[in-house]
Amino acid sequence: MKNIFLLVFTGAMLFLNSCSKDDNEGANALEAPVANPAKDVNNTGFRAKWMYVSTAQSYLLDISTSADFETFLPDYNSKPVTDLNEVVVGLDGGTRYFYRVRAKRDSEISAYSNVISVVTNGVSSIPEDPTFLKVKANALQHPFFVGMAVKASQLETGSQYDVILKNEFSSISAEYEMKMNPISVASGVYNWEAADKIVAYGNDNGINVHGHALVWHVAVPDWLTNYPGTDAEFSNEVRQYITDVVTHFAGKVTSWDVVNEAVDDTGNLRNTIFLQRMGPNYINQCFQWAREAADAAGDTDLLLFYNDYATSANIPKQNKVYELVDALKASNLINGVGFQMHNTYLSPTKDQIETDINRAVSKGLKIHISELDIQVNPFNDISTFTNERRLDQKDKYKEIVKIYNAIPSANKYALTIWGMRDNESWIPYNAELNHPGNDWPLLYDSNFAIKSAHTGFLQGLD
Ligand code: XIL
Repeated sequence: MKNIFLLVFTGAMLFLNSCSKDDNEGANALEAPVANPAKDVNNTGFRAKWMYVSTAQSYLLDISTSADFETFLPDYNSKPVTDLNEVVVGLDGGTRYFYRVRAKRDSEISAYSNVISVVTNGVSSIPEDPTFLKVKANALQHPFFVGMAVKASQLETGSQYDVILKNEFSSISAEYEMKMNPISVASGVYNWEAADKIVAYGNDNGINVHGHALVWHVAVPDWLTNYPGTDAEFSNEVRQYITDVVTHFAGKVTSWDVVNEAVDDTGNLRNTIFLQRMGPNYINQCFQWAREAADAAGDTDLLLFYNDYATSANIPKQNKVYELVDALKASNLINGVGFQMHNTYLSPTKDQIETDINRAVSKGLKIHISELDIQVNPFNDISTFTNERRLDQKDKYKEIVKIYNAIPSANKYALTIWGMRDNESWIPYNAELNHPGNDWPLLYDSNFAIKSAHTGFLQGLD
C-alpha cells in the first residue's frame, strides 16, 4: 500500500514537473505581442490593436479601467481573440481604459504585451465624488488642513466662492495681499486693510490662517527697492517690517513663510536685494526677527516656514534649500518647509516628490504643500481641456495627496491649492513661468463645477 502510494506520488510529481517545464519552454518560445495605440476611438468604444506573433493561434485580451489591471471589464479578462484587433463597445464616455494582450498557441501563453491607454471621447457619465475635501481630510486618522489661496475681494459672504471655501477648506493663504508690497506703503507705514480682511475671515470662520510671505524678492515695495540709506539702515527696515507684521498678526495666524524663494534654479543663493544689502546671513536674521517678535507678543507657538518652488526635480536647488534649512534648524529657528508644487501633469515624478519631502520629514519638520496647482498645457499643445489631460491631472492630484497623506502625523500641516477656479489661476499665459497658453490647473472650472482633479484629491485620501 505504502509503495503504491509512493509510486503514484512520484508519478504525479514527475507529471507536474514536466508540465511546468513545458510551460516555461512555451513561454520562451512564444513571443509577447506588441500592442498598438487604439483606433476608431469614439464616445462609447474603440478598436484595440496589436501586432501579429508568429505561430500564435489566438490572443488573450485584457481590458481594465486601472493601469495595473486590478479589475477587468466584464468579458475582457483574458478574452480569446483570433484576429489582430477587437472592437470594444458599450463603454463610458470620457473615461480611461487600458488594454494588453498575450499570444496563445495550444496550451502555451506568452508574456504580456505593453499596456495601451485610451480615453473615450464625449462626456463622462461617471459622476464626480461630491464629498467635501476638508470633511474627508478631517476624518482621517491623521488629519491635515486643506488650504486655499484667497484674495480679499473673493471673501464676500454668501457668494458661491464663500460657500465652497467654508465647506471644503480648513486653511487659507493670501495669494498676494499679505506680501510686503501691498502692506508696506513706506518706512513704518502700513496698509493692513486687505490682509486684515483675510485674517479676520479665517479667524471668524474657524479656518486656519497661514501667513504668506514676509520676505520675497518679487514683492519688494518701490520705496525699499530704491532705498537711499546704508545697508545697515536697509537691514533695519527689514527687521522693523518683520517685527511689525508678525506683531500685528500675533495670535491670529498659525504660521508664516518667513523667507520665500531664496535659492535660484542653479542651486545658489538667489541674487536678490536682500542678499546684496544684507549678506548671506539674511535668511537666519529674518527668521530670528520673526521669532523674537512672536515671542515678545506672547505667540510662542507661531510656526516659521521656509518656502520654495521646484526643488523636487532640481537636485542642486534641493540640496541648497536643505543646507539653509539645516542652518535654521541648528539655530532652532524653523518649524517647517513649504513646497510650492506648481507642477505639471508630467512632472515632478512620484519618486522625486517623495524623496524631496522625506528629507524634511527626517529632520522632524512640518511639511506644507503650499501652492499646489497642476498644469495640463505646459507646451500649449491643446486648445481645449481634453478628457485625456483631465484624467492625467486627476491621477497627478491623487498621487500628490497620497504622498502627503502618507507622511507621519507629526510632520503634517496643510496641503494648500493655489486658487479655486481655473479662470482665477495665475498659471495661464504667465510670463514669469514662460507659460505659453491657456491652462486648467485647479479643482474647479470657471463655473464652480468640481473637476475630476477634485475627485482625484479625494481618492488620494483613501
Ligand atoms: C503669485 C500670485 O498667484 C499672483 O496672483 C501674484 O501676482 C504673484 O504671486 N510663488 C509664490 C506665490 O510664492 O506667492 C506666487 O503667487 C506664485 C509663485
